[in-house]
Amino acid sequence: MTPSYSFPDGFQWGAATASYQIEGAIHADGRGPSVWDTFCAHKHGVKTGESGAVACDFYHQWPNDIALMKQLGIKHFRFSLAWSRILPQGTGAVNEAGLAFYDQLIDGLLEAGITPHVTLFHWDSPQALEDRYGSWRSRQIADDFAEYAKICVQRYGDRVQHWMTINEVPCFTMLGYGVGAQPCHAPGTIVDSMKDVWQTVHHAMLAHGKAAQALRAYAPQPLRLSLVDNAAVPVPVSETPENIAAAQRAFQDAWCNGAVTYPALTGGYSPQFITNKSAAGELPDIADSDWKIIHQPLDSYGINIYSGGYVRAADNAQGYSDVPLPQGYPRLDMPWLNIVPESIYWAVRHIQAETGFTGDFFVSENGCAAQDEITPEGEVLDLDRLMFIRQYLRQTHRLCAEGYPMSGYFVWSLMDNFEWAWGYAKRFGIVYNIYETQTRIPKQSAHWYADCIRHNRVM
Ligand code: BG6
Repeated sequence: MTPSYSFPDGFQWGAATASYQIEGAIHADGRGPSVWDTFCAHKHGVKTGESGAVACDFYHQWPNDIALMKQLGIKHFRFSLAWSRILPQGTGAVNEAGLAFYDQLIDGLLEAGITPHVTLFHWDSPQALEDRYGSWRSRQIADDFAEYAKICVQRYGDRVQHWMTINEVPCFTMLGYGVGAQPCHAPGTIVDSMKDVWQTVHHAMLAHGKAAQALRAYAPQPLRLSLVDNAAVPVPVSETPENIAAAQRAFQDAWCNGAVTYPALTGGYSPQFITNKSAAGELPDIADSDWKIIHQPLDSYGINIYSGGYVRAADNAQGYSDVPLPQGYPRLDMPWLNIVPESIYWAVRHIQAETGFTGDFFVSENGCAAQDEITPEGEVLDLDRLMFIRQYLRQTHRLCAEGYPMSGYFVWSLMDNFEWAWGYAKRFGIVYNIYETQTRIPKQSAHWYADCIRHNRVM
């Protein structure tokens, strides 16, 4: 008998990271500043006043971190390239030392038998582009991002087959260009209206499309291309046909889904998004030819899933109502990190049902912050994180068991790192980092994850 929760052969077990969160070495080898360097230097930027200047010092520690991944049996590593290491001014002169850093990293991974999965952009826009034209506020960024994509794929495309254009469009657009409040993410620029905020979303989608075209055009070998989405996920409070239909309707309305997931996979906004934003006068300016550029063929779709909200059928105009969470609902160590494991399952079901996407899906990020402590014996017994990941992996397994094309799962994150506006106060790693000495301690969840990988099942 096959042990329960076994994954199909070839299922990709991985770990994910992002450049600004782990690399440090912000002044090394000609790197140009990014908007996150600037945001961290601002007194209203990061809650703790910290920055990614040193972070996990991955820029120097990477050989040890590769050895650690090898020891844990992690076969797939998702990391992002820092645009301003490669193009310090965002465009123009290429920084050879920056390119060489990722050469070494990629070669080191391959030597260790670990497959590199590259994200081109994980929020650290070159400051030079923010200064020059307001980065995502300008259409120009789409062309500049495509040029950067071309440089990267020409350099690394012989060794890297798995490419992701952009990580989580809503986070550096919606949360970076707040209206009427201090934005919680870089660049922290307050624009004039919600229409202007949606315009930055549109420019990011255009950049995704143009970069996807450049990656295909200049790749020296066939590649596997994806976008990484953090769709908002309505979960039916019970799985009756009525509640399922209600959750699917809610999916069209939720946060940025209508402006990100739908354009990427269908070539247009969701009907609800158009209705709602037209009524509010918030629809961005779009050239008709943009939709075709944005709607590029994708081989797979990355979903970053941490939480979700509950929905039930309702006899009202929208056909659903949100079910609020009670006071004591279980959550992990972020204010929004409510434990909703079914969100993984429903993300894939909704996206497939709504867009008809025929490629495969992978969980590009899932994990949680927890209040980790080192025991006197030097262990980190993060049974809360282990419980969290186990539940979400079981829902990933449910997708496989029901025949959905799930190709892999990347835990967020390999190690504790710079958690954006929270600084180092929040720990998301399966490996504990003592920042003062850059000592890595695999937590209980890392040992458990290694067992899952070894047995190809949820343990
Ligand atoms: C994702 C990001 O949003 O989740 C990561 O891709 C991030 O970079 C992680 O660290 C944790 O949470 P948050 O608060 O940044 O969403």
